[in-house]
Amino acid sequence: MHLPNHVAVIMDGNGRWAKERFLPRTEGHRRGVATLRRIVEAARREGVKHLSVFAFSSENWNRPGDEVQTLMKFFVKALAQEAKPLLENGIRLHVVGDVAAFDGKLREAIAQAEQITAPASAMTLNVLMNYGGRWDIAQAARAAAAAGEPITEESIGKHLALSWAGPVDLMIRTGGEKRISNFILWQAAYAELWFSDVYWPQFGPEHLHEALEWYDGRERRFGKTSEQIQAGEGENA
Ligand code: IPE
Ligand code: IPE
Ligand code: MG
Repeated sequence: MHLPNHVAVIMDGNGRWAKERFLPRTEGHRRGVATLRRIVEAARREGVKHLSVFAFSSENWNRPGDEVQTLMKFFVKALAQEAKPLLENGIRLHVVGDVAAFDGKLREAIAQAEQITAPASAMTLNVLMNYGGRWDIAQAARAAAAAGEPITEESIGKHLALSWAGPVDLMIRTGGEKRISNFILWQAAYAELWFSDVYWPQFGPEHLHEALEWYDGRERRFGKTSEQIQAGEGENA
């Protein structure tokens, strides 16, 4: 099977999962953390090299204060609990986004988890928090300008937050919505898009596998014709 190198996931549907069960939205988020653990392990087993997940968008600050506070608590707890198991699984954690906006406790938990997992190299897990695709492009352009570089696709690409992971090959969104919601924009320019109606708390390794099999069947043309690709001129042929 031809695997995507970089998979990006919009983990959506926690709230609706909870609501359907007459549970508080935060219970959906708690389940969502458990799902993430299973999917990270599954992606590692499948052989994905870079997994980027959307945990908190720059727009999510607009949610009710108590929901935001609970999410922040879950982040601190999950970072503290998961760092060692991630390391043992060969998974290096990066938190990506405008983390300066978080309180000291969360920033400390992020720094610790990143430090603990730094020696791992089988897969990177990129958790996007207070991230927005537009923010990323703007900060990359500012960094290029500050380095005295010309504003080109190459220089912006080099300064993007996820530069080590390369282009997104497969983008998955759970929870039924068919939108990007200001997730990774630049690096997803040629991503294959997989939308699942399954709410994130119920998304399992079998659903990930289904998406990977679907990806394997895509013909990625990058602007060329199908005939060119089949004649072996394609990047992935
Ligand atoms: C995604 O689930 C998790 C976060 C945005 C943190 P939602 O909380 O958006 O779930 P729905 O879309 O309301 O069901
Ligand atoms: C996107 O989900 C953000 C995350 C999954 C963290 P949202 O549920 O916030 O997206 P919109 O606002 O409904 O598009
Ligand atoms: Mg949502």
